[in-house]
Amino acid sequence: MKILVLGGAGYIGSHTVYRLIESGNEVVVFDNLETGHIEAVHPKAKFYKGDLRNRSEIDSVFDKEKGIDAVIHFAANSLVGESMTNPLKYYDNNLNGTKVLLQSMVAHGIDKIVFSSTAATYGEPERTPILETDPTNPTNCYGETKKSMERMFYWVEKAHGLRYVSLRYFNACGAHISGKIGEAHNPETHLIPIILQAAQGTRDHISIFGTDYPTSDGTCIRDYIHVTDLAQAHILAVEYLMKGGKSDIFNLGNGVGFSVREVIEKAKEVTQKDIKVVEESRRSGDPAVLIASSDKAKTVLGWKPEYDDLGTIIKTAWKWHSTHPNGYSK
Ligand code: UFG
Repeated sequence: MKILVLGGAGYIGSHTVYRLIESGNEVVVFDNLETGHIEAVHPKAKFYKGDLRNRSEIDSVFDKEKGIDAVIHFAANSLVGESMTNPLKYYDNNLNGTKVLLQSMVAHGIDKIVFSSTAATYGEPERTPILETDPTNPTNCYGETKKSMERMFYWVEKAHGLRYVSLRYFNACGAHISGKIGEAHNPETHLIPIILQAAQGTRDHISIFGTDYPTSDGTCIRDYIHVTDLAQAHILAVEYLMKGGKSDIFNLGNGVGFSVREVIEKAKEVTQKDIKVVEESRRSGDPAVLIASSDKAKTVLGWKPEYDDLGTIIKTAWKWHSTHPNGYSK
């Protein structure tokens, strides 16, 4: 297959590009490098620097790269906190960017897209595990824009026949098994990389945000899913669309929850480092428990997570962090 990966220099995008190339596919990457890293782009992928909001830049990729079978779309901003203080950035990049992309796809007759969505579309869940049919009431602007992007695909399919698969991830984590690429956000806000930075000494401590949640140990519970398993789900989703599958939405998680304290304990075990922990008050907008039901992805797409053990997930992340203490910077 020949696949265009938008945002292929970012965390989940770069792992998906690796997996696509490892499975023998041809990959074109388009990324504005605002949050992505050129070093994360697989050397066998063809790279275009460009911004989705600029119609001529994405048009020129479709004009030059003939025979693209499908698009995988990761090119969006994804920080919950930032989306609350700067919502218009999210409307501009996530929604406006996707609108321009769809205009260009329709004009070029490209009719299949796999989309990087999020559990943040659900908001505070009414029950766990969360099913795809559960209500979507985002509690932050990031989740709201991802939900609106899903709706944009829905209406564009009705008008233009473009088919889509939307993948709603829970907590993406871990790194490529080789340790060559991994998670490198700036600023970093995610739990596992922050714990590992505290383990390697590039950060003083890990703060636990809230110890008074209605959970067994008072800290939030999340469903951690390895980035390579997410990557594989994107490939299966493209194959599903290539075989004529209908547009659909799938959750991606392991269906098992771990508390913040449990993740810290597991990281201590894996790294054999003492990690300083500071208990703080709740971070705004954090639901107590988020756990996915991914039965639909398993049944319909044939998805089988390989790295579903938390210790293995942290080991792969540690391989990356311990060899790249400054991420992709030298
Ligand atoms: N946490 C801490 N200390 C930290 C960082 C995080 O205690 O320094 C806690 C958070 O409060 C939360 C848990 O660790 O309870 C996980 O936090 P992350 O920031 O790693 O992940 P989130 O669950 O907030 O968010 C992730 C994705 C979002 C997505 C969301 C959907 O990053 O993009 O899952 O569930 F929207």
